[in-house]
Amino acid sequence: MTAGASFSLIVGYGTDMGNAEDAAMMFAEAVDESMGITVTATELNQIDLAALQDATHFIAVTSTFGDGEFPDTATLFWEALSADSAERLEHLSFAVLALGDSSYELFCNAGLLLDERLAALGATRLVQRVDIDGLYTQEATAWNAEVIKVLMAAVPTEQAAVTEVPREPAARAVRAGADEPVVVPVSVNRLLTAEASDKEVRHYELDLTGSGIGYAAGDSIAVHATNDPALVQQMLTALGADGEQTVDGHDVPLRIALTEQLEIRLPSRALRALAAGRIADAPAADELGDGPGTWWYGKDVLDLIGLAGLDLDEVLDTLRPLQPRDYSIASSPLAHPDSVHLTVATVRYADGDRRHGGMASTFLADRTGSARVHLRPNHHFRLPAPDVPIIMIGPGTGIAPFRAFLQERAATAAPGRAWLFFGDRRRGTDFLYGDELEGFVSAGTLTRLDLAFSRDGQTKEYVQHRMWEQAAELYDWLEDGAHIYVCGDADRMAKDVDAMLHRIVAHCGQRDQASAHAYVNDLIKNHRYLRDVY
Ligand SMILES: Cc1cc2nc3c(=O)[nH]c(=O)nc-3n(C[C@H](O)[C@H](O)[C@H](O)COP(=O)(O)OP(=O)(O)OC[C@H]3O[C@@H](n4cnc5c(N)ncnc54)[C@H](O)[C@@H]3O)c2cc1C
Ligand SMILES: NC(=O)c1ccc[n+]([C@@H]2O[C@H](COP(=O)([O-])OP(=O)(O)OC[C@H]3O[C@@H](n4cnc5c(N)ncnc54)[C@H](OP(=O)(O)O)[C@@H]3O)[C@@H](O)[C@H]2O)c1
Ligand SMILES: Cc1cc2nc3c(=O)[nH]c(=O)nc-3n(C[C@H](O)[C@H](O)[C@H](O)COP(=O)(O)O)c2cc1C
Repeated sequence: MTAGASFSLIVGYGTDMGNAEDAAMMFAEAVDESMGITVTATELNQIDLAALQDATHFIAVTSTFGDGEFPDTATLFWEALSADSAERLEHLSFAVLALGDSSYELFCNAGLLLDERLAALGATRLVQRVDIDGLYTQEATAWNAEVIKVLMAAVPTEQAAVTEVPREPAARAVRAGADEPVVVPVSVNRLLTAEASDKEVRHYELDLTGSGIGYAAGDSIAVHATNDPALVQQMLTALGADGEQTVDGHDVPLRIALTEQLEIRLPSRALRALAAGRIADAPAADELGDGPGTWWYGKDVLDLIGLAGLDLDEVLDTLRPLQPRDYSIASSPLAHPDSVHLTVATVRYADGDRRHGGMASTFLADRTGSARVHLRPNHHFRLPAPDVPIIMIGPGTGIAPFRAFLQERAATAAPGRAWLFFGDRRRGTDFLYGDELEGFVSAGTLTRLDLAFSRDGQTKEYVQHRMWEQAAELYDWLEDGAHIYVCGDADRMAKDVDAMLHRIVAHCGQRDQASAHAYVNDLIKNHRYLRDVY
């Protein structure tokens, strides 16, 4: 504990896209304003458990990622805290704010785990954990006030001190996470996959002229799209409503609410629970999950209305606010200061006799010449210094931020080596940005390009197979200080690539499993292993 002080406070956050970081910074600012104490919000991975032994109060804000997992910026902290060897924390008072999205099965699970573990280690809850669904500013502000009230009652301010934990190198000013979206023209909408492909991936350019948006390579853009009017009409017909009526809680006619304000593509858990009780062959909503291969996968609200015979009032009660969809930016502002480029797979699939289209991806592909967007800065996903080598693993649409990185490195004539692993289904139809990538190789921006086309041969070839073939060289790059980046599918690809990275480190570094794990953890802690996965 800080000499002479009876109070020392640590504020930590676990974030993927910056919301929890913003919320933690809001809390730190509120502490400063109300208590006159300066405290730095710190990434949870940078907080040593020994620092908690020295502190009296610990405030943690974390989002949940993957399937109920901790975000990458908190995994190391959680690993240490959940270990059997973690020391008791009876002296510590704590509070947890959890950010999440209730459409996921394990809502706010990381916050819940953290809250329960701190209590199990003997720490005392200052206030009950709050689980926030979606937009966080209002509820976080109320929670801040509650925590600060308890802190102020417990702590004479003149005795207060703050435990300094190492600051992250990438500490930054509060970002404007709740920026008002702006409408920008979609100036380019071009098919990237060949007509013959069984996928549809498109390249978009959004014209930022006059929008006030300034971005960095590594950021994402949130697209505030609207639902397909044809789907809205089908829903109105199925519910026997004309669309002109107003409904409780909405100040616009039903048709507008269904088009612009409510999520009608992805059924909420409440709707699934309701439908599960009415459909004979439906499994319980929380049984077996809702991913690929499950009964629920791909079914939208209209499917459930039809199958369960639901009426307007009960359906409306379960509909969640329509959320924007994020897209990794595929351009560098140094090459394209007045536009952002996106690489978007259009979601189209058949389920029974219905054709389904993804809300935002078909909006961009079919229904608009402009889009309401706001920037989603990703301060954790950045290029290192120009001379540091980078390894990028980005199959499918995961290529997007790496196109941005390569444009950036070309524009700055960065001397660092760059290695890209790209994969997709077939070389003939799905080699996204193939000419550009080969151009980067010719220009020397890209030192190595390794490709894995999964459906061209007899057996599946994935990016991680290419990594294994080049294991010794990849390990040498890591030993030379390379940063390694992964972007694309979180469920399968990112997990397999992570397993391969551990395997390569163990094999080439002649390490046992525990030592390979520690090596990779060190990469994470030093922000040298960064992921933008979804
Ligand atoms: C940080 C981040 C960055 C991202 N970057 C990109 C990017 O660069 N490019 C990109 O394309 N996407 C990206 N995404 C994903 C993107 O945000 C959307 O989730 C995606 O475009 C689908 O949105 P949608 O509204 O079109 O589809 P939705 O209406 O949300 O429908 C998607 C749902 O449809 C169902 N579904 C999809 N395919 C099938 C199928 N074959 N069979 C049955 N059901 C199916 C699934 O339930 C799926 O969840 C990113 C996501 C995040 C979080
Ligand atoms: N969980 C999901 O179901 C999921 C995840 C991501 C994207 N998508 C959807 O798929 C569409 C296209 O997305 P996308 O272009 O980004 O990617 P994608 O088409 O899903 O995959 C790109 C490449 O990655 C391969 N791949 C599949 N499993 C892999 C694994 N475990 N490890 C490494 N590579 C693997 C694919 O091979 P094969 O397909 O030949 O196996 C393909 O060659 C979009 O509509 C998107 O929404 C679905
Ligand atoms: C790929 C992905 C997976 C997610 N998984 C979960 C989940 O399992 N449970 C949950 O409650 N929220 C989940 N979320 C929602 C986030 O926790 C929520 O959007 C949060 O506000 C993000 O905060 P952050 O920017 O600090 O990461 C997920 C979001 C994404 C993009």
